[in-house]
Amino acid sequence: EKKKSSGLAFALFLQLLCSVAGLDRSQFPSSFLFGTSTSSYQIEGAYLEGNKSLSNWDVFTHVPGHIEDSSDGDIADDHYHLYMEDIELMHHLGVNSYRFSISWSRILPRGRFGKVNSAGIAFYNRLIDALLLKGMQPFVTLNHYDIPQELEDRYGAWLNPQIQKDFGHYADVCFRAFGKKVKYWSTFNEPNVVATKGFMTGEYPPQHCSKPFGDCLSGDSNIEPYIAAHNIILAHATAVEIYKKKYQAKQGGSIGIVISSSWFEPLRDIPADRLAVQRALAFETAWFLDPIVFGEYPPEMRQILGLRLPTFSSEDRRKLQYKLDFIGINHYTSHYAKDCMFSPCEEGSTGSTAFVISTSERNGIPIGTPTSMPSNYVVPEGMEKIVMYTMQRYNNITMVVTENGCAQGSTRNDPTTNMLNDKDRVEFLHSYLTALTRAMRQGADVRGYFIWSLLDNFEWLYGYTQRFGLYHVNFETQERTPKLSAKWFKEFLEGPEVIE
Ligand code: NOJ
Repeated sequence: EKKKSSGLAFALFLQLLCSVAGLDRSQFPSSFLFGTSTSSYQIEGAYLEGNKSLSNWDVFTHVPGHIEDSSDGDIADDHYHLYMEDIELMHHLGVNSYRFSISWSRILPRGRFGKVNSAGIAFYNRLIDALLLKGMQPFVTLNHYDIPQELEDRYGAWLNPQIQKDFGHYADVCFRAFGKKVKYWSTFNEPNVVATKGFMTGEYPPQHCSKPFGDCLSGDSNIEPYIAAHNIILAHATAVEIYKKKYQAKQGGSIGIVISSSWFEPLRDIPADRLAVQRALAFETAWFLDPIVFGEYPPEMRQILGLRLPTFSSEDRRKLQYKLDFIGINHYTSHYAKDCMFSPCEEGSTGSTAFVISTSERNGIPIGTPTSMPSNYVVPEGMEKIVMYTMQRYNNITMVVTENGCAQGSTRNDPTTNMLNDKDRVEFLHSYLTALTRAMRQGADVRGYFIWSLLDNFEWLYGYTQRFGLYHVNFETQERTPKLSAKWFKEFLEGPEVIE
C-alpha cells in the first residue's frame, strides 16, 4: 500500500515538473547521447591490483590531513570488481552512453619507462565489450586528474615538456587497443582545474603554490600554472595529431577535450563588472580552448599576463592545427564577477590574477539556492549561457555536456534511507536540462548530456562526504540503491507515457 502511494506521489511529482517546464526526451534528437559520468580514481578502487602502479592521487590521499574524512580511493566503489553490476544499473536506467576515464597507471604503470600492462588493457576491454553488448557507447577520457606518480618523481610531470611525449605514447597505446570499439575520446578532463588547483592554489597534487595563495613548500603561482597548462595543451595536441593521422580514418571516431565551465554574472550592472565577466570566462575556459581552437591564448589573458604566458613555437602551432571534434562542458554553477582592475582588489583577495573578485552573493543574497558543495549554487540559466558563450566564441562548434549534477552532504556511513529521496537533485537536473534545451533551440549544436555521477564516489578533497550519485553506495557493503533521481532519469529516458 505504502509503496503504491509513494509511487503515485512520485508520478504526480513528475507530472507537475513536466507540465511546468515541458521537458521530455523527444525534444532531443534520437542520436543524442544520454549517459552518466565517472572517473577511474573516484570509483575503481583496487589501487594495487592488476599490476597498477601508484598514481599521484594514491600518494596524495595517503598523507594524513589531505582529505576531509581522512579517506582515500583505495577501494572507493570497488568498480574494478563490480563493473558488471554497474553496467547493469546503467542498462536499467536506459542510457545509451557511459563516460568513464582510463587510469594511466593501469595501462602504463611506469609511463614511457616501462611496458604496456596487459592486465590493464584487459580490464578496459572487458568493460568496453560489456557496455557495447548492452547498447551503450563508451565515452572515454584519457586523463581525469590521476597520473603515474613516477612521472612526477622523475621529471616533475606537467611542468616538464617531456610529458607531452609521454601523454602521446599513452594515447597511442589506448587508440590502438580500444579505438576499434571506442567512438568518443576526450584527451583531458578539466585541465583548467589541474593547472589551477595543482599549481596556483596548491590544493591538489603536486601542491605547488606561493603567496598569497597558500603556504606551500615549493612553487610559483605567478608562473607555474601557465607552464603546466601549456604542457597540457601541447600534450592534448600531440594526442589529437596521432589520432587524426593514424586512427581516425580507419576507426571513425571523434576526439575532444573537457573543460570545467562555470558561468559568471556581473555583480553590479556596470561596464567594469561586465568586462570582469569576460576576463573571468577567458581565464577559466578560453585559457585552454582559444589555443586549441585558434592557436593563441585569449587576448584577455595576454593583455594582463604578458610574457608570464608562454608562447607557441611554429612547431607547436603546426601541432595545434588538427581540429578537435567537440568541446566537453562540465557545468555545475555560476558566480558573480566583481571588477578590481579599475578599482583596487580587496586586501587579501586572490582575485588579482584576472583582476576579478568572484563571489556568490549580491547584497547578502546568494546567486542561487545553495547546495552541499560550498561553492556550488543552483543557477539553471548558467547552463544556457555557458553553452551560448561557447557556441559564439568557437563558431558553433559541436558540444557535449560531459558533466552536470549536484551533491548531498553526508558522512561515509549515513543510513542509506536518508539519502534516497533526493528531490532536490531531481529538480536540479530537470531545471538544468530544460535550460540546455533553450540553448539548443537557439542553435547550439549539443550532442550529449551526462549526469555526474552514476554512483556516490570519492569526491577528491571532500572524500566520501559529498554524494553525487543517482545510485546510493553503502561504502561498507558496496550495496548500490537507486535514489529518486535514478527513477526520474529512467522515466525521462523512456519518454512520456502515452495515455490512450
Ligand atoms: C568535476 C570533476 O570532473 C569530477 O571529478 C568531480 O567529481 C565533479 N566535478 C564534482 O565536483
